Amino acid sequence: MGAPRLALTFLTLPLVVRAAAGGQWCYDSQDPKCGPSHWKELKATCGGSQQSPIDIERRRLRRDGRLGDILFEGYDQAPPGKWRLTNDGHTVLLGLQGAAAAEHISIRGGGLPGTYRALQLHFHWGSPAGNGSEHTLDGRQFPMELHIVHINVNYRTLAEAKGHPNGLAVLGFFFTVSDTDNSNYNTIVAALRNVSHQGDSVDLASTFPLSNLLPHAGQLSKYYRYQGSLTTPDCSEVVVWTVFEEPVAVSRAQLGAFVSTVHFPAAGSAPLKMTNNFRPPQPLHGRRVRASRLASASGAARGARPLPWALLLLLPLPLLGARPS
Ligand SMILES: *[C@@H]1O[C@H](CO)[C@@H](O)[C@H](O)[C@H]1NC(C)=O
Ligand SMILES: *[C@@H]1O[C@H](CO)[C@@H](O)[C@H](O)[C@H]1NC(C)=O
Ligand SMILES: [Zn+2]
Repeated sequence: MGAPRLALTFLTLPLVVRAAAGGQWCYDSQDPKCGPSHWKELKATCGGSQQSPIDIERRRLRRDGRLGDILFEGYDQAPPGKWRLTNDGHTVLLGLQGAAAAEHISIRGGGLPGTYRALQLHFHWGSPAGNGSEHTLDGRQFPMELHIVHINVNYRTLAEAKGHPNGLAVLGFFFTVSDTDNSNYNTIVAALRNVSHQGDSVDLASTFPLSNLLPHAGQLSKYYRYQGSLTTPDCSEVVVWTVFEEPVAVSRAQLGAFVSTVHFPAAGSAPLKMTNNFRPPQPLHGRRVRASRLASASGAARGARPLPWALLLLLPLPLLGARPS
């Protein structure tokens, strides 16, 4: 085991610990007095001009032909070692660094300004009554959102990465509800009852290819890109965001497991279910959201792509006209 890996493992821990120990910030579902509208009182950055999440307005997107396929490395293999699922008091988080001999799980290409190594993934969800994604699409909120947090390989620690606008890359995936279980989520869903309370953690029975958690590979060319922040305090504006168009489908029961199994830190006598752990959309402040080459944006700056389709539609007309009827 190399020293750099060991260092990274320890130094990424504060991402969890500091957030939990801060204890001052919360979601409105816990206590409106420390909810998202108050975060900027604790951390001025949370009131900055490049905050996340945002509403992605499809008619205002700018298409960028340079945003091609992202290269997912190590996403298609189950790494050796252990992955630990933790309730950090704000979300359920899967650490991806635990596998001692794991080959690196990383992303690059697709217009990303570097290579980024996977650190952890976590979820944001709603309540039995409402959706809980952080990003919204044309004002529509989805039931849940997955974030896979990656660190720029040029930086050795999270603290160092936080000093650079390209320090982190987060992939965001929306969820929809389907009639059938998504068996790829069984391991995580089954482990939720083992992380019911803050500070609980459990080693998953096995690792698995991260790609199992994502939409079909053929759909990953469709995404939106913008410059933003962490969506929890300290809200550092160091995140290259990629939000994918195609949602992941899970069953209502699987979604319900998140909403009804996990708890916030106990404040009063009764433990409070962890619900609505999302930050609402933040102002764009002039930022531009770009659509990948293949995203189905209904936006303005389109390229030449609509033309062939128009031709296809027009071509049969003379043929139809010539046919005797
Ligand atoms: C919540 O999600 C469902 C399922 O995706 C969707 O049909 C509905 O429009 C969403 N509701 C809101 C208020 O965005
Ligand atoms: C998870 O919790 C269940 C009981 O709810 C227990 O039987 C099981 O052993 C736990 N799993 C692990 C890995 O701790
Ligand atoms: Zn998140």
